[in-house]
Amino acid sequence: MKEIKIYDSKQTVAEEFSVFFKELAASHKTFNVALSGGSTPKIVFDYLAENFEETIDWSRINFYWGDERCVLPTDEESNYKMTVTHLLSKVAVPEANIFRVQGENDPISEAVRYGAVLAKNLPNVDGVPKFDLVILGMGDDGHTASIFPHEIELWDATENCEVAIHPDSGQKRITLTGKVINNAAVVAFLVTGGSKAEKVKEILNEVENYRDYPATLVKPTTGDLVWFLDADAAKEIN
Ligand code: 6PG
Repeated sequence: MKEIKIYDSKQTVAEEFSVFFKELAASHKTFNVALSGGSTPKIVFDYLAENFEETIDWSRINFYWGDERCVLPTDEESNYKMTVTHLLSKVAVPEANIFRVQGENDPISEAVRYGAVLAKNLPNVDGVPKFDLVILGMGDDGHTASIFPHEIELWDATENCEVAIHPDSGQKRITLTGKVINNAAVVAFLVTGGSKAEKVKEILNEVENYRDYPATLVKPTTGDLVWFLDADAAKEIN
């Protein structure tokens, strides 16, 4: 099932997604979620921490990442550091429930290690780790997780995780591959801002260059796909 939810502002997206997250997490004894990075999640994590600290049983949630920059966990670029700052430092998540990508490690070794962590700790369906929820953002270029258009073939890699390279900065990243993302029970895109509008239109309307964008390839095999958009990101959808 694909659902498109459009809200008036980024703040409302954060509020509505937080309710969605709370209700989905509450429906699982153990909830395995892969988080996205970048800037959009910050407002969501802040809202979750401020409004659901007491109403979500954080001890039942296991936190993974859909992608991570190959930097120290203390680096400003680290998605883990961002998540600690905006969420994990504010709510009672047991350390044992946090499965961070070790960005400080050798990238190739870490992609193998993290892929094995997923295989060991998550339910495996059809031999592929299955998340209850994968949260994704989308870049202005149509990338998602850390699979960028210039190496879109990584999406179809046979491994659970791969090493990706940011097209502008050359920064190495560890990313989930398409087979893990599309094996999730639910995938939620959080996409806000006018800079995303063109790609959102192309992808959702399947027009122009949509086939060039990794975000287009997010099609959960049996799970649900939910787009959370603000009005700016949705303004070109017909
Ligand atoms: C990352 C992400 C990446 C992000 C998009 C959107 O590590 O940067 O996981 O895929 O979700 O680039 O980023 P914004 O939310 O900052 O626009």
